[in-house]
Amino acid sequence: MKSVLNHSKVAGISSKEKNEFDFALEIELLKKEKNAVILAHYYQEEAIQSIADYLGDSLYLAKQAEKVDADIIVFAGVHFMAETAKIVNPSKKVLLPDLNAGCSLADSCPPIDFAAFKAQHPEAIVVTYINCSAEIKALSDIVCTSSNAVEVINSIPREQEIIFAPDKNLGRYLIKETKRNMILWDGACIVHEAFSFDKIVALAKEHPQAKFIAHPESESQVLDIAHYIGSTSGLLNFVQEDPCDTFIVATEAGILHEMQKRCPSKHFIPAPVEDDTCACSECAFMKLNTMEKLYLCLKNETPEIILNETLMEKARLPIERMLAIK
Ligand code: 13P
Ligand code: SF4
Repeated sequence: MKSVLNHSKVAGISSKEKNEFDFALEIELLKKEKNAVILAHYYQEEAIQSIADYLGDSLYLAKQAEKVDADIIVFAGVHFMAETAKIVNPSKKVLLPDLNAGCSLADSCPPIDFAAFKAQHPEAIVVTYINCSAEIKALSDIVCTSSNAVEVINSIPREQEIIFAPDKNLGRYLIKETKRNMILWDGACIVHEAFSFDKIVALAKEHPQAKFIAHPESESQVLDIAHYIGSTSGLLNFVQEDPCDTFIVATEAGILHEMQKRCPSKHFIPAPVEDDTCACSECAFMKLNTMEKLYLCLKNETPEIILNETLMEKARLPIERMLAIK
């Protein structure tokens, strides 16, 4: 493999030249030169998923981040994921191609307000979904993802009062699954709240043979009609193992790429959203990362995730408690 371009020229090249630039090849070369690895979430654009060293859901990626022994981790995902990687493996340089790649769920839980909410329930154990900032993790007792949330809740004694934050939809789903009465923070994901119950019902009537599957961040009336509810990796396993050949999928549309790759003969239909004029089933934050930004961040080693040591220490404990469970 040989680079076709002088790396230093790229930042200022024209869009025509950019079209001819082989970002995948250049990223591969930079990865070797700098001893870097790319961790990517299933919601990233297809080209990014294809060049990732590790592709997975948020739990898998947190576990891989902890084990990485390369010098640089490029996190092709959103800010809270890159932050988690830095917290579990602080000696590594963690890069995020676009620092604006946030998360509506994380944004729905400001630390000052959450600290006040927590103070109203001094006896409660705080369980937080990993989709939150390091400051919120530092205020938590244990973290979970949608892959292990049931196990995490079940690990807490039954009589113990629990606060669950920030996702109220996942929280409601967990209350049903675990039969625990938790105090919920009022946060939500804009992508998973965009799905239209009525349109899903109409689509299911058009495809009576299809199974409807959903991520637990979706609203409860949507979850109530799902044949299967699971995290991104749970959904992927389900479509592989289930004999059905058509699925209506209510989660971020990026997952369809990996579903189609794993099950080429099956048919995947993105669940319809309320507003036909928007690409609401795509997470705009996730899609801020592009091959060009990934290339530039590896080349310039910026933007980097920098966190205060004390904050990292406080946020690490609840993540480690989760990783010890599953
Ligand atoms: P997973 O934990 O299923 O990967 O979900 C992450 C996420 O951001 C869902 O919106
Ligand atoms: Fe956050 Fe929702 Fe995007 Fe997931 S899909 S990263 S929860 S905004």
